[in-house]
Amino acid sequence: MTGTIKTAVVTGGSRGIGLGVVKALLDHNFKVFSLSRNVCEELNDDRLVNIKCDVASEANQLDAFKQIGETTSRLDACFINAGVCGVSPLLEMDTDEWDRVLSTNLTGAFYSLREAGRFMRDSNSGGNIVACCSLSSFKPENMIVHYNASKAGLRMLVESGARELGAYDIRVNGIAPGLTQTDLIAGTEAIPGYLERVAKRTPLGRIGEVADLIPSIFHLLTDRWVSGQVLVADGGLSLVTPTDPLE
Ligand SMILES: NC(=O)c1ccc[n+]([C@@H]2O[C@H](COP(=O)([O-])OP(=O)(O)OC[C@H]3O[C@@H](n4cnc5c(N)ncnc54)[C@H](O)[C@@H]3O)[C@@H](O)[C@H]2O)c1
Repeated sequence: MTGTIKTAVVTGGSRGIGLGVVKALLDHNFKVFSLSRNVCEELNDDRLVNIKCDVASEANQLDAFKQIGETTSRLDACFINAGVCGVSPLLEMDTDEWDRVLSTNLTGAFYSLREAGRFMRDSNSGGNIVACCSLSSFKPENMIVHYNASKAGLRMLVESGARELGAYDIRVNGIAPGLTQTDLIAGTEAIPGYLERVAKRTPLGRIGEVADLIPSIFHLLTDRWVSGQVLVADGGLSLVTPTDPLE
């Protein structure tokens, strides 16, 4: 390969959607820094640097980006992906649970956006930042008020970032996956028939898999002219209306 090696940061790259994106970036010859609480044992590649990091900790993220700066002078792409969920009725939700989800999904995403943005601005090379939003960025689901609020906030973080960082040739976008087979949704298997019902309502006829999301995310991580958009990648599920006579 000729030219400069491209570099990317992925938060929560140890499994699920983040791991899929790490693999895609490696396949495209990126050097990848994965910032996660757990190290991915599956991948053994000297272009992958695992940095142990709790994204909810500002100190951890500052330290992680400092380490990245000691290794590379440019950052081409950042996928802000680390996220958690939990299920509780609103009236039973305690403040610790609210804080756990908001501090990772929204405040943690803010730290990543700010640090990646600073890095790209200071290296004068522009770049692409993509945040992992959700259908919950647009509409609320029951029993996950904290997740809904965090993902709606994340959508606004994307739009705000796109406005302010464009001046540095930095694009900021989001991807909003529908239900995707990862550990995050493992708990839904306890709800009888849930996954089958969602699959049936989805125009493409099944639940999404990590591989389904990769082309869209990779595109947004390398696009030149799209900024401030949240791309819904859900097999058409969000088109379905509750009053549809065939549902
Ligand atoms: N799976 C879905 O149906 C779905 C749908 C829409 C959006 N999303 C979003 O996709 C993103 C990835 O989720 P996933 O489905 O791959 O789930 P996952 O649980 O498989 O992966 C989450 C990743 O984030 C990391 N992580 C979580 N909290 C962290 C923290 N505080 N610090 C550092 N790393 C942390 C985990 O270690 C893991 O690598 C999340 O933001 C999630 O909200 C998922």
